[in-house]
Amino acid sequence: GADRKPSERTFLAVKPDGVQRKLVGEIVRRFEKRGFKLVGLKLVKASEDVLREHYWDLRNKPFFSRLISYMSSGPVVAMVWQGLDVVKTARKMLGETNPADSLPGTIRGDFCVEVGKNVIHGSDSMESAMKEISLWFGQNELHRWESCSTSWIY
Ligand code: PPS
Repeated sequence: GADRKPSERTFLAVKPDGVQRKLVGEIVRRFEKRGFKLVGLKLVKASEDVLREHYWDLRNKPFFSRLISYMSSGPVVAMVWQGLDVVKTARKMLGETNPADSLPGTIRGDFCVEVGKNVIHGSDSMESAMKEISLWFGQNELHRWESCSTSWIY
């Protein structure tokens, strides 16, 4: 109906430790099962330029250069997911930035212990989601579910 909230998109990235530890399938499975739609997915070795732009707000943090070298230490799996309240819900599914504060059942609470190797990134707001999606993906890499009949699935 007209009063239905439009579904939104978020940017998620399985970080190099998550890829190396073969957590990609497990992570994708959680978002599929929750009911979100996959809009884009690729394995990329991010350039330092992209990473510096991605983490621009953190440029003055003491851990900034460590964060950039960790994120460029191997390929990441960059993803865009779509659905109702996906930005906020994905952050809940990720857990807290520091895995020690993450509850079991969350991705970080189940799979990691260290803030410097916390397996996955997720946009923290709709505004950063839009910025991050356009930084990591071209328009032609994103699927528009709206223009595609999926009635035989759902
Ligand atoms: S802050 O201080 O509130 O801006 O930081 P926060 O939003 O919690 O985290 C922003 C990203 O920085 C990463 N981070 C760290 N990396 C390495 N070492 C330390 N100590 C550290 N602290 C925070 C954190 O994982 C966030 O990365 P993303 O990719 O967004 O999860």
